[in-house]
Amino acid sequence: MPAHPLPAIPSHSVWATKKAQDAEASFYEATNLPEPVWRERFAWEMRAAHSLFTNLVKRVYLFAHDAVEQDDLLNYLGFSEVAIYQVYNHHHFEETVIFPYLIEHGADRASLEGNVQDHHTFTRAMDATWLYIRRVRALLPDAARYPSPVPEPDEEIQTIDIVGEYGLDPSKGFDPTLLQKHMDTWLGTMMDHMLEEIDTIGPSMTEAVGEENLKQLGVIVLKHLQAYDPKWFLCSSFATVNMDCCKTLLKLPYLVRRILVPYVWAGKYWGMWQYCEHPENLTWAGTA
Ligand SMILES: [Fe+2]
Ligand SMILES: [Fe+2]
Repeated sequence: MPAHPLPAIPSHSVWATKKAQDAEASFYEATNLPEPVWRERFAWEMRAAHSLFTNLVKRVYLFAHDAVEQDDLLNYLGFSEVAIYQVYNHHHFEETVIFPYLIEHGADRASLEGNVQDHHTFTRAMDATWLYIRRVRALLPDAARYPSPVPEPDEEIQTIDIVGEYGLDPSKGFDPTLLQKHMDTWLGTMMDHMLEEIDTIGPSMTEAVGEENLKQLGVIVLKHLQAYDPKWFLCSSFATVNMDCCKTLLKLPYLVRRILVPYVWAGKYWGMWQYCEHPENLTWAGTA
């Protein structure tokens, strides 16, 4: 089944601004570049990861009205939750594992802690989006048969008063205009952060940390990625990023890439992955 055709970009949205489009293009470029020398590898990986996230959240935004018109909310909201969770999880991983490791091994503390502070300029509104999507979906008929593949939000997130603080009321059903309006409040800040972060992890940071320590970090990162539930992590990543880039970044065994992803994990939520750019990557032919 092919990808759903991408709806037009509303002229008032962040996606129509030159700044966002330049950031998207810069991230996307990395997914088509060969693996660089070790000094530039970390920034290259981060740009590719940021391309995955911007691509996913852009689709959450753009498909909101279509999903209502097509009466496909169970799939669309499921996809959307995975998309937002990918970004949430990325920041959490940076804050708890990646940046502390880099600081401990010689990276400039102030720049990396600055990245963490930047996260907090938009993550509460983003987490509220996650809660809204999750709760609206949970109220749909059939949600119990197709439970979200994403883990429960932690207690801190659960306590966000999404109705009082943000006017996001799941009991009123899904409101695509409201979702887009709310996303407009944080997407620009998120994009700025994702672009600025790249400057803090270039060669001056990698040289301070050293090649051997970065290799060790690579091992830690891979272990984390491989421990995520493939039903949300691998499926949405494969269906978004080109396969050569997936292979270089994830280094999955043949059996996982060619058999488990297409034949075991992708099937149950196939309707979600049609909101991704490349659902064909979740097939036998696409994983070659
Ligand atoms: Fe990042
Ligand atoms: Fe970040």
